[in-house]
Amino acid sequence: MIPINKPCIGEEEKKAVLKVLDSLQLTDSSFEGGKFVREFERLFAEYVGVKHAIAVNSGTSAILAALMALDVGEGCETLAPGFTFASTATTSLFLKAKVRFVDIDLKTYCISVEDLLRKVSEKVKVILPVHLYGHPARMDEIVEAAEKYGVNVVEDSAQSLGSKYKGRMTGSIGLIGCFSLYATKIVTCGEGGMITTNDDGLAERLRMIRSHGQFRGYDSKILGLNLRMPQIEAAIGIEQLRKIDVFIKARRENARFYNEEFSKLENVRLPVEEDYAETNWSIYTVYVKRRRNEVVQYMRENGVGATVYYPIPLNRLEVFLKDIQPESLPNCEDAAEHVMSLPVYPTLTEEEKNYVVKVFKDAIRKFL
Ligand SMILES: Cc1ncc(COP(=O)(O)O)c(C=O)c1O
Repeated sequence: MIPINKPCIGEEEKKAVLKVLDSLQLTDSSFEGGKFVREFERLFAEYVGVKHAIAVNSGTSAILAALMALDVGEGCETLAPGFTFASTATTSLFLKAKVRFVDIDLKTYCISVEDLLRKVSEKVKVILPVHLYGHPARMDEIVEAAEKYGVNVVEDSAQSLGSKYKGRMTGSIGLIGCFSLYATKIVTCGEGGMITTNDDGLAERLRMIRSHGQFRGYDSKILGLNLRMPQIEAAIGIEQLRKIDVFIKARRENARFYNEEFSKLENVRLPVEEDYAETNWSIYTVYVKRRRNEVVQYMRENGVGATVYYPIPLNRLEVFLKDIQPESLPNCEDAAEHVMSLPVYPTLTEEEKNYVVKVFKDAIRKFL
């Protein structure tokens, strides 16, 4: 099976893990974090172009900590797109805030600015735009709307490390950026996350939240958790981040190859890269007009791990049903019914790429 994604792990990552094991310092609960964590944070902040990066143990922890740092809680409302991974929005529920879903733009699958403008108000505490599949959301308009109503912007950049909006790195535009370093992400440490911000006060709060609200050890000042990134993960992350330009270049080439190969297919809409965007192609997603599930099943039966991100819009996920008002999100419904993603990871061979193209074309001919 050609999987939907494959981490690119080399000798450098293996050596880095052994180095941590040899040091016998597997973690560090201090405010600053351990040696490898601090180095990973420094490199990450430099790469994204922000003052602070705070390493945590997952992308979900990154979003949760960001919302906690902004005092999101009971009585607060957050706005999130209705088509994304669940934890963009479940994190609000944890804090007893009310989440309201916004429709998406069917061209980029990112939050619809038009629907956002209908729903944003002074009542909203945080907007969570998601750079879905790596494609940046329309940040200027989102930030402008947020500023008009005094709302904070927390970018869910889980899938968009290295993607640029008008030349600026995603995760550096809103007040806070949240990244995932999960195994399928463009840069991974297995599990992990990173929070970025230019705000000194927020960075300090975030560092405390990640380790029980402590500042100088056993002095919990605010509510926190154990969201720390272990040293082994940080050491892997350092090596991965050093290779990110190579990873993105290969993904861009693979996406360009698919776009050319599929350009003449009827009943299929190819992913776009808007003029303002430079995407990392963390996920390559096509829109299939009919019988999407059969196309996916056929591909899987023929050895290609085609995957649907995501088959159910958030407003219909069971976990949200008791907490949300019914909302009409036609584009989220449409995307959930029609999109499917193909392997685009950097180490795909020519032979594998050609095979993916062949099987997809066969499926389209067969079912559409
Ligand atoms: C858009 C989005 N938000 C949040 C997350 C959560 O990240 P993690 O799985 O590292 O907790 C993910 C990861 O899949 C994601 O894709």
